[in-house]
Amino acid sequence: MSNSDVLRAARQARRHARAAFSNFKVGAALETADGTVVTGCNIENATYGLTVCAERVAMFKALSEGHRTFRRIAVVADTTAATPPCGACLQILWEFGGDLEIVLGNLRRETGRYQLRELLPLPFDGRLL
Ligand code: THU
Repeated sequence: MSNSDVLRAARQARRHARAAFSNFKVGAALETADGTVVTGCNIENATYGLTVCAERVAMFKALSEGHRTFRRIAVVADTTAATPPCGACLQILWEFGGDLEIVLGNLRRETGRYQLRELLPLPFDGRLL
């Protein structure tokens, strides 16, 4: 599976976004170690604070389906500049996915490529507890 394949899956998932309050639709596609792709979209609600980002939806779906090791995640928004995962999502992706490759894109093209550790260089995790 190539970066353009996971970006395509993230664009498709973005179409399901429930973003009535921000109108900012995001799609994510998480590739597992065995090549399965699990997608997510952002889901907002009227209290705003209970919103769940596309990346966490994808990771929680994957975990709940029994997946445990991951290769990369693609994140797509309709922006010219790259839209990276928020701090909360970086934390969850790190704890359950490790140093994933993060592929960012918009509706037309790839906008960035990072390792998770570049975006979260000094993570807090269970090893410190
Ligand atoms: N959002 C995501 O789903 N992923 C990101 O990487 C950035 C932000 C969502 C949360 C909220 O529904 C909307 O985008 C605006 O912040």
